[in-house]
Amino acid sequence: MTHLDPTAHHDSTIASTTESGAPRESDANSLSVGTDGPLMLHDVALVERLARFDRERIPERDPHAKGSGAFGELEITEDVSKYTKAGLFQKGARTPMLARFSTVAGELGSPDTWRDVRGFALKFYTQEGNFDIVGNNTPVFFVRDPMKFPDFIHSQKRTPDSGLRDNTMQWDFWTLSPESAHQVSYLMGDRGLPKTWRHMNGYSSHTYMWVNEAGEKFWVKYHFLTEQGLEFLTNEEADEIAGTDADYHRRDLFESIKNGDFPSWRLEVQIMPYEDAKTYRFNPFDLTKIWSKKDYPRIPVGRFTLNQNPVNHYAQIEQAAFSPSNLVPGTGVSPDKMLAGPRLLLPGRARNRLGTNFNQSPVNRPVIATNSYDKEGAMNFFHSGDAPVYAPNSFGRAYQDEQGPVDNGWEADGTLVRAAYSLHSEDDDFGQAHTLVREVMSEDERQRLIDTVAGGLSTVIEPVLSNAFQYWKNIDQEVGEAIEAKVKAGHEEQVPGADPVSE
Ligand code: HEM
Repeated sequence: MTHLDPTAHHDSTIASTTESGAPRESDANSLSVGTDGPLMLHDVALVERLARFDRERIPERDPHAKGSGAFGELEITEDVSKYTKAGLFQKGARTPMLARFSTVAGELGSPDTWRDVRGFALKFYTQEGNFDIVGNNTPVFFVRDPMKFPDFIHSQKRTPDSGLRDNTMQWDFWTLSPESAHQVSYLMGDRGLPKTWRHMNGYSSHTYMWVNEAGEKFWVKYHFLTEQGLEFLTNEEADEIAGTDADYHRRDLFESIKNGDFPSWRLEVQIMPYEDAKTYRFNPFDLTKIWSKKDYPRIPVGRFTLNQNPVNHYAQIEQAAFSPSNLVPGTGVSPDKMLAGPRLLLPGRARNRLGTNFNQSPVNRPVIATNSYDKEGAMNFFHSGDAPVYAPNSFGRAYQDEQGPVDNGWEADGTLVRAAYSLHSEDDDFGQAHTLVREVMSEDERQRLIDTVAGGLSTVIEPVLSNAFQYWKNIDQEVGEAIEAKVKAGHEEQVPGADPVSE
């Protein structure tokens, strides 16, 4: 993976130089008039050092600021060629890759063990261009329409006046957005506190498309199942670690790989025949829903292993840019509204955060030759020489002119509307959340969820608190009642005789 080597122009054995390569006279002493006299402005070494220091920081990701990652390899062990022609998914293919794990709401220095969904972003350096999957450690999401995404993130971040995070604000958004119930149930359950990044699953969550050589189309969901086993922290453990080692998950991944203990994940997919989407009991593109494994069992595909730490976190992790718009032939997107537009615009954020030519940096650059007519911009290092800079052209630079339907498209008609998804026979906001809480969670896990939610609600004020009790009763009557009783008991303990709920 030499293309990833960020040290190509560095030599630790020569004396230090300026950025332009001239020897520096000192890394310790500025140039002054006598030992106690004024500093000289023409001390280029000092000016360069301070001017560069002033400009070391770039904007942090927002959301998903705190995270880290490692390099590895995806190996395909099964034949899924009847579903996709994508080279990286053909049996025997081995593809170098980068994974980045993150929290969502916390800022760059925030503790790894605060309860949150975890980002699970993957970049595969394939022979057909880069292919990214930008998922989470949960198979669903809080909202199903991208219009609500900024408000959702705002509600999880900080209040405008105090700059504090605020449970009332979070629960206000969730309870007024009942489609969040499924994801909130995951978040308040054990998934919200993975023991380490090695001990969590990853999901594309979104529905994507696969296309085979014959042009047949399938809907697909990717699952990355940890081979370390699913493990979690208790609230108490997580709080303690947050106070003693804010970088606990980052450290764990780095140390494990350094010690030769390489984490791995099995890749399995759920495949839905193209035509099934119209009649499946849930709208299969609604990101707040899963596809039942009974209806669409998981099919093994391969596994990936992380076996190489970054040698420079900033260059290789902080400057990495992932986007679901990085697709390769044999793959495609779906009518999932959360994917269809805004998520594909993530390169826009990368241009803002990293610069126009972010795709030229070693960590983002494809491993194959490119022939893009996009040109110039700040920090443009690679170019097309003196080849024509426009298409079409008569002077030999290749260009594309395909016409007609694309092979990874779908049919759509109707007038323009602002509306929710069409409801399929079993679609509602609380049904799958109920199944998760009542049928998937064990008794112990359910009890931990009750404790966690009650703890979170202890500082929430009216009318949000009553809305939250009702929200949980809609998910599961018994769980909702237990949460309400626990919160009220806690309030009475704190303020004897007071009726907190009506305050
Ligand atoms: C309308 C929907 C969404 C929008 C507009 C959106 C937008 C963003 C933005 C602006 C960032 C920060 C990028 C940066 O600053 O470099 C980000 C990061 C991220 N998003 Fe989303 N997001 C959406 C939904 C989702 C969903 C549904 C998932 C998971 C299934 C997801 C997973 C991630 C991950 C993992 C990252 C971090 C990527 C990295 O490690 O660099 N996002 N998103």
